[in-house]
Amino acid sequence: MRAHSNKRIFISGGASGLGQALAERYAKAAWAVFICDINEARGEAVLQKLKALGTDAHFMRADVTVLSDLQLCADWLRANWGGVDTVVNNAGVAVGGTIGETPMEDWEWILNINLLGVVRGFKVFTPLFKEQGHGQFISTASAAGLVHLPRMGAYNASKSAVVALSETMKLELASSNIRVSVVCPSFFKTNLVESLRCVDPEARLAAGRLLTDSLRSADTIADFVYNKAERNRFMILPDKEARAARFFKRFLPSSLFFRALSQAETLSLKKTV
Ligand SMILES: NC(=O)c1ccc[n+]([C@@H]2O[C@H](COP(=O)([O-])OP(=O)(O)OC[C@H]3O[C@@H](n4cnc5c(N)ncnc54)[C@H](O)[C@@H]3O)[C@@H](O)[C@H]2O)c1
Repeated sequence: MRAHSNKRIFISGGASGLGQALAERYAKAAWAVFICDINEARGEAVLQKLKALGTDAHFMRADVTVLSDLQLCADWLRANWGGVDTVVNNAGVAVGGTIGETPMEDWEWILNINLLGVVRGFKVFTPLFKEQGHGQFISTASAAGLVHLPRMGAYNASKSAVVALSETMKLELASSNIRVSVVCPSFFKTNLVESLRCVDPEARLAAGRLLTDSLRSADTIADFVYNKAERNRFMILPDKEARAARFFKRFLPSSLFFRALSQAETLSLKKTV
């Protein structure tokens, strides 16, 4: 093993998409990388890639809906690497559909992973960070956590709650020397469509195309996140659509903002359906 930079990162949902890209980006910067995921086959494959990059790496099957799974990850880090410097709450899934189409069980499913998975990450790792006297949380929200298009209510709600929680944690943990960042990208190419729950086949196809046809790669997003997180940026907006959406929401009168959003939505549906 290459002597690592003495920095250690933990990434949930590290077996695919952005989690995998972040794992590889930090490995290239000589960090020791621990990934967890529920997909064991992909987790093992990413682990081999990380080892081939010459850094210390570890994979554990862990489900972010299970607090004790995350606790086992934290215990492993304390016992084997003496702690962890950065924790990325990244595991996530998608739900599409109107309020009428989306069953309550899909609301409960997505909130348990996208929101409560992040809550569990904060709960489990905050005591370890406090014990060490330092730490950094990076949570993957989405541009959907800042501006909220129709037929994405469950996903939008889960991601805006991650932004709210991150703002709260930034203030709550600052005096313990714990840094907090939140990442809000627009669509980029990953396997997220595999998890998508959506009853309307046309909407499913449209959402799938937005993900699979995106020209933005997870590697590009990961590189941006790495650079901004190292500079201790709170709000990380990796692409121009996300930056524009946030800008318009802050500065346009709400009537103009909603008109612009509905035009953007019509355009994106024309492009995708
Ligand atoms: N792809 C996009 O366009 C996009 C845009 C904005 C935000 N995001 C967010 O980025 C994050 C990563 O998603 P991605 O696009 O890389 O998708 P992905 O499906 O490629 O990766 C997500 C990973 O999370 C894992 N996972 C799902 N449920 C889990 C659980 N309960 N416990 C542990 N692991 C679990 C999956 O097995 C998968 O490996 C998600 O939070 C997603 O909402 C994605």
